[in-house]
Amino acid sequence: MTAPTASIHALPRTEGDIAVEVRSICKNYSDVEALRLIDLDFPRGKLTTLLGPSGCGKTTLLKIIAGLVEPTSGEVRVNGKVVTGPGPERAFVFQDFALMPWATVMRNVAFGLELKGMAKAERQSIARHYIAEVGLTGFENKYPHELSGGMRQRVGLARAFAVNAEVLLLDEPFSAVDEQNRRKFQEDLLQLVEKERKTFIFVTHSIEEAVYVSDRIVLLSRRPSRVAQIIEPKIDRTSSPDAIRRDQGYLDTVEEIWQGLKHYVD
Ligand SMILES: Nc1ncnc2c1ncn2[C@@H]1O[C@H](COP(=O)(O)OP(=O)(O)OP(=O)(O)O)[C@@H](O)[C@H]1O
Ligand SMILES: [Mg+2]
Repeated sequence: MTAPTASIHALPRTEGDIAVEVRSICKNYSDVEALRLIDLDFPRGKLTTLLGPSGCGKTTLLKIIAGLVEPTSGEVRVNGKVVTGPGPERAFVFQDFALMPWATVMRNVAFGLELKGMAKAERQSIARHYIAEVGLTGFENKYPHELSGGMRQRVGLARAFAVNAEVLLLDEPFSAVDEQNRRKFQEDLLQLVEKERKTFIFVTHSIEEAVYVSDRIVLLSRRPSRVAQIIEPKIDRTSSPDAIRRDQGYLDTVEEIWQGLKHYVD
């Protein structure tokens, strides 16, 4: 047998598996210590959920990964490259929608493609596809103020999908959606994770939602936030949605997280 060549050893550690590396991230705002030494790996093609008490720093961490907020110390690497600002391989769905109020649904969804310099007909055709995917066909020419909160969130989702980024950062994307649509979106999200090898970093307040959609769940403690526990739900995803929600593995994981949150948060 021949010995491994030097070039094999020289491969960067991120090659293959890990899309996003968070290394020793600390974030202090003027009078608040939000994050204290966060170290996390986000495996490529997987959905990882951040779960933790309100105000613990989940949005802050997503924004640091997006390159929208600078950490006080530490660094984030995406595909092995240190993040110094936003980049086309990452797309963000904001907790508060962040749509352009003066632009139509169509323009909002196509905006990332417009920034890339794509021709109008092509970007509108891609945007139309994702507007249909999130169930907003017929609303292309409406403005954000003419939509409900849930509809605005769906515009944000369509915009993130349209740019075809490798890493999707989703900050409570379903919080303003009614329960029925929320379950439909959870299904859509699972299909997207399976279909496209994208890396999802997802924030939710719902333990059940986290267990239902996630490959990995990161529990964050109360501020200053640290990684308290990482849980991998053991769920047979070939079962029907209703069967999964009755599955013992699903129910046990919900309970485990509930106990974990009580323990780390109190
Ligand atoms: N721009 C800012 N300036 C000062 N403090 C901030 C800023 N953004 C966030 N904070 C503070 O940092 C802490 C973490 O906020 P962050 O929004 O990241 O929490 P979160 O976990 O997303 O909360 P929620 O679950 O309510 O969305 C909070 O105490 C918040 O007040
Ligand atoms: Mg938040």
